[in-house]
Amino acid sequence: MDTLAVKRGVAHVCKDSDELGLQCARAFVDIVVETVAKTGQCTVALSGGRTPHIMYEHLLTSDFGKRAPWDKVHFFVGDERCVPPDSPESNFGNAREQFVNRLNIPASHLHPTYNQDKDPAGAALAYEKTIRQFFGLKEGEFPRFDVIHLGMGPDGHCASLFPESKALTEGKRIVVENYVEKFSSWRITFTFPTINHASNVMFMVQGEDKSEVLAEVLESDVISYPAQHIVPEDGKLQWFIDRSAARDMCKAPTNR
Ligand code: 6PG
Repeated sequence: MDTLAVKRGVAHVCKDSDELGLQCARAFVDIVVETVAKTGQCTVALSGGRTPHIMYEHLLTSDFGKRAPWDKVHFFVGDERCVPPDSPESNFGNAREQFVNRLNIPASHLHPTYNQDKDPAGAALAYEKTIRQFFGLKEGEFPRFDVIHLGMGPDGHCASLFPESKALTEGKRIVVENYVEKFSSWRITFTFPTINHASNVMFMVQGEDKSEVLAEVLESDVISYPAQHIVPEDGKLQWFIDRSAARDMCKAPTNR
């Protein structure tokens, strides 16, 4: 794995998807172990999409993953599709099936959204209330998640903060409903302030279909994509990418 400084944070370039999953898993467990040692718990917001499963496999099968204090971790989701919880499209549903349900942790540590398929606006308000109560926040305060996982789409979106969508300009809410034109569907998503309040943000990006946008996101001064708005105020930003996603980066290691 090659680590290089980028416009915002650091990028770890992994030779293939298996190393990507392993390195992400290691970094995630390091954060969990350190945070639990310090505070007795760890708050995590998982990502949706297809990429996280390669990390989950390493978390579930590696010695370091098996030793992690998962029973001290609280799992949230950084964005959710407005589908029923048992839909194959559900981000929290996939996280349960691929990872969380195999950890044998208290149900009280799982914090999904509710009713998102019936009432996106109400579900966003309810999730905000859940988060506010969990973190003991006053109106106007943002939660400080210990770690937020993100993926990035080929259009440079992250969470459900899609280009030209209303949620991009939200500066006060913790969570909002967001209509995504390209999918003609509603999503629930963390807002930029919520993500940028985190102690750790970990992106996981794989595949050459994202290489052109990723190169701009990581190396350009011109802000053109939602993912470029992820700049933790007082937190660590790490990009875990594979060589195919890094293909168009000027500074990426060659495929030696
Ligand atoms: C979602 C995700 C989304 C995802 C990216 C990357 O609901 O789809 O939260 O932000 O992380 O679209 O998805 P892949 O990992 O499938 O490429």
